[in-house]
Amino acid sequence: MKVVKEIRAFQQISEFYKCSGKSVALVPTMGFLHEGHISLMQKAKAENDILIVSIFVNPTQFGKGEDFDKYPRDIIRDFHICEKAGADYIFNPEVSEMYGEKSFTKVSVSNVTEKLEGDFRPGHFDGVATVVTKLLNITAPRKFYLGQKDAQQNAVLKRMIRDLNIDTELIVCETIREQNGLAKSSRNTFLTHEQKQKASALYFILNEGKRLILEEKISDADFIYDYASEILKEKAPEFELQYYKITDNYFLDEIKDLSLYNGEILISLACKAGNTRLIDNIIFSK
Ligand code: PAJ
Repeated sequence: MKVVKEIRAFQQISEFYKCSGKSVALVPTMGFLHEGHISLMQKAKAENDILIVSIFVNPTQFGKGEDFDKYPRDIIRDFHICEKAGADYIFNPEVSEMYGEKSFTKVSVSNVTEKLEGDFRPGHFDGVATVVTKLLNITAPRKFYLGQKDAQQNAVLKRMIRDLNIDTELIVCETIREQNGLAKSSRNTFLTHEQKQKASALYFILNEGKRLILEEKISDADFIYDYASEILKEKAPEFELQYYKITDNYFLDEIKDLSLYNGEILISLACKAGNTRLIDNIIFSK
């Protein structure tokens, strides 16, 4: 496994693989890797000849007052995890390498970025879309692999590669969870033992929403929201539910009356457990 820190050097590697006819896969990450990331790497490796993992904590996707400085990092441990998962290359640039020169360009996707997380993290998806465009330009993968955990990020990036005709395919992989249902996340390291236990309520209320829709045939989204937030209040009264929304999985538009809708349903939530912000979602069809 080779660790590359320079953009130019990586572009030469990408050029080589483009000519070789081998299929190259990218798993973009911000490091502090866990089983969620590992599952993406394993799938990407199984389906392609060459696996690239990028590890870069991207400052431009963190807002003022967010946890960029505190974001957990352990690069040596990450290298070992990538090697074990079969990575061929790690792209691990410094911030100065990625954004050293003054940059006047950003990639900004409209519409899908304005919903859900959009109210709480303005500008976040501009940072994501810009850095992912840079990573795709540097590594030129035939396919790149993302987790269902970040449903809105996936919708934004799907839109972006389609709108900009970027020659790659986005593959979304299932969310990996703790035994109690909590979605694995680098930020879970900030949770206390008690918060981790109580956070199982998040997956529980997502599944309750699904149950109400599929089994109880409830079609009023407001009723489902009230029901879910009541359960959360009982199970984890100190958690602050920022949103719990039922949308389609493409434009992320809210579906208020489920009786009129037959497509894929996405229920997403964001919740603060102390200072730690958690997001999760489930997708299903009627
Ligand atoms: P990061 O949070 O490190 O996540 C990297 C990828 O791992 C994302 O596609 C995310 O959805 C996926 N992932 C995280 N937790 C997961 C889980 N429990 N199960 C399955 N997949 C999981 O997302 C980012 O980094 C950044 O925004 C990035 C795309 C790298 C751009 O900076």
